[in-house]
Amino acid sequence: MTDEEQWWRDAVVYQVYLRSFADSDGDGVGDLRGVLQHLDHLADLGVDALWLNPFYVSGGADAGYDVVDHRAVDPAMGSLADVDELLEQAHARGLRVVGDVVPNHTSSRHPWFEQARRGGPGDPARSRYHTATGRDGAPPSDWQSLFGGPAWEPFGDGEWYLHLFDVAQPDLNWEHPDVVADFERTVRFWLDRGFDGLRFDAAGAMAKAPGYPPVPEGPRHPGDDHPFSDRPEVHRIFRRFAQILAERPGRYGVAETWGPAWLGEPYMRQDELHQAFAMDVIFTRLDAGELGAAVREYLDAAERQGRRPAWPHGNHDVTRAATRWGSEGVMAVLLLLLALPGATYLYAGDELGLPEVELADADLRDPTWRRSGGTERGRDGARVPLPWRYDASGHHGFSPAGTQARTWLPQPSGWSELSVEAQHADTGSALATVRAALKARTSLREAPWPVWLPGPPGVLAFRRGDVTCVLNTSGGPLPLDEWGRELLAASRELDEDGRLPSPGTAWLR
Ligand code: GLC
Repeated sequence: MTDEEQWWRDAVVYQVYLRSFADSDGDGVGDLRGVLQHLDHLADLGVDALWLNPFYVSGGADAGYDVVDHRAVDPAMGSLADVDELLEQAHARGLRVVGDVVPNHTSSRHPWFEQARRGGPGDPARSRYHTATGRDGAPPSDWQSLFGGPAWEPFGDGEWYLHLFDVAQPDLNWEHPDVVADFERTVRFWLDRGFDGLRFDAAGAMAKAPGYPPVPEGPRHPGDDHPFSDRPEVHRIFRRFAQILAERPGRYGVAETWGPAWLGEPYMRQDELHQAFAMDVIFTRLDAGELGAAVREYLDAAERQGRRPAWPHGNHDVTRAATRWGSEGVMAVLLLLLALPGATYLYAGDELGLPEVELADADLRDPTWRRSGGTERGRDGARVPLPWRYDASGHHGFSPAGTQARTWLPQPSGWSELSVEAQHADTGSALATVRAALKARTSLREAPWPVWLPGPPGVLAFRRGDVTCVLNTSGGPLPLDEWGRELLAASRELDEDGRLPSPGTAWLR
């Protein structure tokens, strides 16, 4: 493969959370044409690619992740012609486009599931899903849904179906040939339309142990057998997807993995996918020692497989980075990840430093809120529509001027200050910091693997070629002279003595 064909190795991928990115038609929900209208923002920012969350016909239970038709566009998101135009316009600006395949489950409104429901016990249509007979009125096993509550739902005729996520997301049976054939068709369909890469949603969940045995308690260790997560059989599926990707040069696949490096490593084997998310970084405290240990584990795992990591800085399933790491920490961690070998995934709105929003109970839409009986607030606080303009119109330029409809999740007042427009001209803004870092990052592309440098407590430092990256979490300012002469980028302004405040990251030569 040529370097150009492996563009994804060191790419910066911007995650467009479609329903919250930009609304073109005034219904208060983001859509594909909204993305088309703002492609210049992404090109200006300097990212290499955008990943689009699902835009397929959906039952509306899990913000697009409950899919009714994997090869058709939800009218609320736009049309197939809009997808084609988006691919064309993005490509014209040198931006690649990554799609999102949801193979673990369908919507309960999917024709296959409707057939299964109607069919009754023992009907062959039920075998495309995980269905089983209950135990004297109780579910077939004690498995719990990842969104809360039992993972089994009765059909009402003695049989139950499995849903690891919402009750409206029945899990597919990947032992069934129809399931395999249909997803191979889906993957080809989107690649043939021009997608440059695909994310595979809930990658680890696609294989289940026969008989649905109990989930062992306590933390997982390498070699442990889990009844529904990261089982060896899932890799058969990814080897097949990898062959389809390999038929088309320049395309790649990334597994949505959760957990430590050893769990994600097998997905990156040479005959499987090109990337697996280094998700634990998201849950690591802003501490040089802890971050250093986490990134080294993922780097080692990727290196063993001849790959580079995929660094998630945030995403639509976790608390906003600015709230997890603080308003200065958000950029410090971003510059750390950007300086490492591998691809960085930047979640829409984190380039503005948007904080997690505290929504009122009545505004929450995430199925987690309902399924947990109101104990887990869920993920909506990271999904609030983006502020584009400095105005008080009620939607901050998210929707077209004059739109009366409310945004699908309410934006807090005061978001004008954080809008793209407000930050555009401000050289000290989060947006300006990200733009400058992405420009400076060109000197790190294809740079050698990091050499770790000794540093004072609270400081993580490494060199790649002639560039040195230092992360300061010591609590006090760090003099930079010993690390380099020329400042290439910094996550925040240096103090009057030219020292890097804490928390902060600087790249020097
Ligand atoms: C993935 C998605 C998440 C979704 C779940 C079920 O984790 O990122 O948003 O709810 O899969 O599809």
